[in-house]
Amino acid sequence: MSDIEIRIIELRKKIRQHDYNYYVLAEPKISDFEYDKLLKELEKLEQENPRFFSPQSPTQRVSSDLTKEFASVQHRVPMLSLSNTYNEEELFAFDKRVKDSLTDKEIESLEYVCELKIDGVSVSITYSEGKLISAATRGDGTVGEDITNNVKTIKSIPLSVEDVELNSSKVNEFEVRGEIFMSISGFNTLNEDRVTRGEAQFKNPRNSTAGTIKLQDAKIVASRPLDIFTYYLLSPNLKFSTQSENLGLLKKLGFKVNLNYSICNNIREVLSYCSEWEKKRKDLPYEIDGVVIKVNSIQIQDKLGSIAKSPRWAVAYKFKAEQAVTLLNKITWQVGRTGALTPVAELEPVFLAGSTISRATLHNIDEITKKDIREGDTVVVEKGGDVIPKIVSVQLNSRPKNSEPIKVPEVCPACGSKLFRSENEVAIYCENSECLEQLKGRILHFASRGAMDIEGLGEAIVNQFVDLGMLKSYADIYDLKHKRQQLIELDRFGDKKVDNLLLAIEESKNKSFDKVLFSLGIRYVGSGAAEKIAEHFKNIDSIIAASKEEIENIHEIGPSISTSIINFFTDDHNRGLINRLRESGLNFISSGKQKLSDSLSGKSFVLTGILATITRDSAKEKILARGGKFVSSISSKIDYVVVGENPGSKYEKAIKIGLNVITEEEFLKLISD
Ligand code: IVH
Repeated sequence: MSDIEIRIIELRKKIRQHDYNYYVLAEPKISDFEYDKLLKELEKLEQENPRFFSPQSPTQRVSSDLTKEFASVQHRVPMLSLSNTYNEEELFAFDKRVKDSLTDKEIESLEYVCELKIDGVSVSITYSEGKLISAATRGDGTVGEDITNNVKTIKSIPLSVEDVELNSSKVNEFEVRGEIFMSISGFNTLNEDRVTRGEAQFKNPRNSTAGTIKLQDAKIVASRPLDIFTYYLLSPNLKFSTQSENLGLLKKLGFKVNLNYSICNNIREVLSYCSEWEKKRKDLPYEIDGVVIKVNSIQIQDKLGSIAKSPRWAVAYKFKAEQAVTLLNKITWQVGRTGALTPVAELEPVFLAGSTISRATLHNIDEITKKDIREGDTVVVEKGGDVIPKIVSVQLNSRPKNSEPIKVPEVCPACGSKLFRSENEVAIYCENSECLEQLKGRILHFASRGAMDIEGLGEAIVNQFVDLGMLKSYADIYDLKHKRQQLIELDRFGDKKVDNLLLAIEESKNKSFDKVLFSLGIRYVGSGAAEKIAEHFKNIDSIIAASKEEIENIHEIGPSISTSIINFFTDDHNRGLINRLRESGLNFISSGKQKLSDSLSGKSFVLTGILATITRDSAKEKILARGGKFVSSISSKIDYVVVGENPGSKYEKAIKIGLNVITEEEFLKLISD
């Protein structure tokens, strides 16, 4: 393999992982700027080396944020995204590209509209007969997710509007596009509430918007401070002459439009708009991450058209990350779930980009040595793409006289065991698998959104349970139901919260095999690798029995993953955990293999009482194999309640709500295909 090919493969893998972090987990790990740099490098390498073209490369699609729980909606008109510019030169180049396609006359009358680039989540809202009938996320630009119920809770969005009239054409069928966001104060209040309830905090207003808009329960969405700025109205029968006219009409119809937009007569005016707002952004009550520059004339927009995923008539100007200066009080070492130690800078609290920060990541010891960062230093911090703050530089002239370079720790700060540093890796590892910090990390990963998705088992709760000795492994999570009383008596807990947690734990048993495999936290086995391995081997026993070579035969699975899998499953402790999870009823068989039909697709079942001819586990398997859902508690959303002998209180509740109660015989008929 040539160096170029190796780099291309590496870039594709990195970008895919960042896409997942950003779109699925809503937890970006790098800034937009760093992400764009990776993407641009890959685009360039692929263009220069067409023999390495791949239709699966991240350059060949618009990133997707699709998850499984929402219905898909096809956008009538694709939702494009914008290419980014970061400096004057790139803006001049955009202006030149636009002008190169225009006649002298068009250039003479050329206007740009500059709008603030709201840092939120884009949405498309459809109105029919003047009524809001559906709303969808951008998704991959062509197909989005139906989030109608959630969007309807946003008070600044009208549920119905008067007929739209433009140059004497009247329409009541149209689509409105805009950005849903959360104000900084709303975000801060929400986070304060979450702290009081012992829940994990959101990282920034954008993440909290992305997380909220994808909640399954519209009631919770309604309680969150979501808002919108709209920037476009589309209707096949309306012919706008300019973008500013479009904004004007939106405003007139009662949609919320950000009125800080401005019409610029040339690119110099655009530049001064950008630098003016780069300074003023910190005074806004909501976050913006740049400026969107659009050609004002729709006729010229149509003439310029689009290339692949972005229009030629618009561009985003992205602001540089905001910086602040503060004191680095101390460097501590955090132990992650794999045992790797990460240095963390404990900072004198400082206000930066909408929130107060007191910690910054230092990545690894090499980063500290390279930048010569020391305790007591005055440092410049930046929020990379407004995510986890990082230290950009040290102000050497303020360094205290007695300062000393940082020493690499020799023992684990959590458990005191000797640390290990391999020759070809920068990371330092604690190799004690019983180290409590590692355990907390492993449990948190197990319960996280991309894994078993156990709502309520966040950082604060996991720490509390581990410290109290209630969780000694992730397998213990499924025994918590026997400790209900003990849980209720804990700080910040009560009946309702405990029941919700236990319910979320039970529901997690429906997670597919690939998710279970990912949750185990095998080093290097990310969600993508877990999916491939689960699909190939179909069940856990085949993976345990597989040789290193058999694992590496899977496309894109290399030696570090295969070695790690073999090591994981040769460990008796891990094998014990798998057996316990299996006994608890988790899926260790790929439903792809078992899936027989879609005859129960979307239908949810609750079982109560003892069935005579079939065990509970096998009934569950049969439901899942036919596309159905197995749920442990009664709610109005349940389709069938199967009642056996000696049914419990679920039966009474089902009757009370008027659910469809069926006998074992009727159930057997349903699954007899
Ligand atoms: S126009 C082709 N206007 O930025 C037109 N987008 O990278 C594309 N955004 O997906 C959208 N404020 O989520 C437009 N005033 C604004 C915007 C805006 C924020 C977001 C939007 C879009 C992304 C483009």
